[in-house]
Amino acid sequence: MVSPDFRQSSGAPRNSNTNPKPVDVDSHDTKGRLMTDSATSTQPCADAPVVEACEPPPRSWGHLSKLRKIGQGVFGEVYHAWDALLEREVALKLYREAAEQLDEWARFGLQEARSLARVRHPNVVTVYGVDYRKRRLGVWMEYIQGHTLEALVRAQGKLGALEAARIGFDLCSAVMSVHERGILHRDIQSKNVMCEHGGRIVLMDFGLSQDLRPWRRDSAPRFCGTPLYMAPEVLRGEWASVQSDIYSIGVLLYRLVTGCFPVHAGTLKEVRLKYQQEDITPLRERRPDLPEPYLRAVERSLAPCQEDRFATAGEMGEALLALSEQANVIAC
Ligand SMILES: Nc1ncnc2c1ncn2[C@@H]1O[C@H](COP(=O)(O)OP(=O)(O)OP(=O)(O)O)[C@@H](O)[C@H]1O
Ligand SMILES: [Mg+2]
Repeated sequence: MVSPDFRQSSGAPRNSNTNPKPVDVDSHDTKGRLMTDSATSTQPCADAPVVEACEPPPRSWGHLSKLRKIGQGVFGEVYHAWDALLEREVALKLYREAAEQLDEWARFGLQEARSLARVRHPNVVTVYGVDYRKRRLGVWMEYIQGHTLEALVRAQGKLGALEAARIGFDLCSAVMSVHERGILHRDIQSKNVMCEHGGRIVLMDFGLSQDLRPWRRDSAPRFCGTPLYMAPEVLRGEWASVQSDIYSIGVLLYRLVTGCFPVHAGTLKEVRLKYQQEDITPLRERRPDLPEPYLRAVERSLAPCQEDRFATAGEMGEALLALSEQANVIAC
């Protein structure tokens, strides 16, 4: 798990329990999330596990009780909890301790809650509320009973094209609605998408989301995401775009059917090098057995030039839908 890397000007969050230690961003592992405003930054950042070890797990938070930890990330922890007022179970994402409501950590939480509040879509997790209690910002939302796509790939191995296309179609539909609300997700990856029992695909973790309008980017870090899912332009230090999110969907669809990534790298530095050397393994090399429409959809979403990718996530979804319709015709 990679830690956030804050700009020198803002510094690491003020947390008496934190024990920030310098980390070279380029040596970060590639599957964890990372944030910085510079593509070449080697500035200090807080180290998540150190903080986590100091925090006793809370039993309650605000009006939410019976907290049971179900997830752990760079930003804090995720709990299954009971909302006694509305008498329903919820998922509570508690951001790391922040001295003030608008501290660095809390701002990511607020951004996550506000982005989620702008979107209403069956394939996007529904936010219920946000509050600041016990020096921690909490975002509570619908509890998804299921597993992440990462867990699915690990448990099942390579998925078939039809199953992956169905997941891709739902995900594209979710991402399209996010973009339509003027938001970029910027961290689409297998751990941030869940598959609910029954098959519903749910996009979550809007902690790195950002306003699409350049004048509303305010203090959002430019360079952030999960290295192996990041588009080449983001790795070069450019601002993310709709096409950068589409690129990440492409990486995810590649991973679902191969269990691998388009580039093989252990550090951010290596990921960048692989892209510079164009050392990318085409999907059709790994899975020549896949139907042509699936291969073409993934290839197009992974085009090095943004202009060559799908114009919208909706367009990508349609390409994937065509595949399942074709399969239905063959089955008839
Ligand atoms: N609404 C939810 N319902 C059920 N489980 C959830 C929910 N939200 C998050 N989780 C679980 O908690 C994990 C971490 O959640 P999330 O990605 O939002 O946190 P994070 O701190 O941003 O983590 P990371 O740094 O790994 O991205 C998820 O992978 C998932 O297993
Ligand atoms: Mg996450």
